[in-house]
Amino acid sequence: MQQIITPAGSVSGSVLLPGDKSISHRYGMLAAIAEGTSVIENYSSGADCHSTLGAMEALGIRIEKKDRTVTVHGAGLDGLRAPAALLDAGNSGSTIRMLSGILAAQPFSSRIGGDESLSRRPMDRIMKPLGAMGARIAARDGRYPPLEITGGKLHAIDYELPMASAQVKTCVLFGGVFADGATTVREPIRTRDHSELALREFGAEIDIRGKVITLEGRPKLTGRKLTVPGDLSSAAFFIVAALIVPGSTLVIHGVGLNPTRAGLLDVLAAMGAQVQVQQLEQVSGELVGDILIRHAPVKGGVLEGATTAALIDEIPVLAILGAASEEGLTVRDAAELRVKETDRIATVAENLKRMGVEVEVRPDGFHVPGRRKLRAAELDSFGDHRIAMAFSVAALAADGPCVIRDAEAASVSFPEFYNTLQRITA
Ligand code: S3P
Repeated sequence: MQQIITPAGSVSGSVLLPGDKSISHRYGMLAAIAEGTSVIENYSSGADCHSTLGAMEALGIRIEKKDRTVTVHGAGLDGLRAPAALLDAGNSGSTIRMLSGILAAQPFSSRIGGDESLSRRPMDRIMKPLGAMGARIAARDGRYPPLEITGGKLHAIDYELPMASAQVKTCVLFGGVFADGATTVREPIRTRDHSELALREFGAEIDIRGKVITLEGRPKLTGRKLTVPGDLSSAAFFIVAALIVPGSTLVIHGVGLNPTRAGLLDVLAAMGAQVQVQQLEQVSGELVGDILIRHAPVKGGVLEGATTAALIDEIPVLAILGAASEEGLTVRDAAELRVKETDRIATVAENLKRMGVEVEVRPDGFHVPGRRKLRAAELDSFGDHRIAMAFSVAALAADGPCVIRDAEAASVSFPEFYNTLQRITA
């Protein structure tokens, strides 16, 4: 599908977002291995999170879906059943990496794979720690999906993560749920802690000391009623839209503001953006609030180290803000961008080039010059949801209508994206 986006006069009104993708995956998986029923409200409408539910159903879990409420009838730690066919993670790295921790501990074997993009993403990062826990996993060329997981008893480990990855951390912790004894994960940089908070919410004993997390094995997980906050990574597209289109004022309601995710807001504040947080509250262990954005010129700046890791998913849309900013945007320490749904350093640079902006590309980052006028162009999602949405936002500030090819990629995390964009730019 092609989407034509015309320049916007302003971005205004209010937005309510679908549930956070990261949190939905975790609630869906933990609810399945908890005892009793969980009711999850505002579950993500994105295809990725439905891949997780589909996989849990294929493992014998009964799930009811009504609008955005998902009811999961948990089977307990020992209640999953062998799948009849390959488990389909679709486009979802989170599904394959996190679920592998659970699959490796089952008394049956399973196969899990996904689409073409997922089939190019590295899985050795989870095979290594799971192997150390005693799992047997085979992969295409030793590191790519599909994975063949021979389930069995896992033992607890103390694992030092070689990269900043919440998916790998979660995989080890989810494996650790089934092991006897305490599993410890040590992070090089603190990453999103939704798994830790969700495990605690379901009843696990978990100790979080900065970058060192320790989980007691074989916890009693109990079904619960949970509400997923709005997805801050989806909010980022509208935040940048309001910041780059003059005359904009926008309110985004009920957004997840977990401090390990909200680095975006600190960075924007440091750039001089008018972004305010209101109505903060705690929901199911997660911080939630409203965000008010007003257009104002932003300075631009440098993203590196822990800051880069904390907003890795927001970098494509921040590149657009960089081009509109006064001093431009430099991104460092972002080699992980090269192994996302696409090589996001390459896909951001290619689309910006089509819009007349020359990006200086480096192995682990890029520099986007500031004060650039964006030219109307034919843009590509390259099959990547965040590239589709980031360049739809860029198109709002272009000098004429833009075409986004393969625009349907957005539905991986945000099927309502184009309707919402149209409503706030009408
Ligand atoms: C996610 C972690 C990040 C992020 C992805 C979701 C998660 O990936 O890019 O969209 O839910 O844990 P990595 O853990 O690979 O950095």
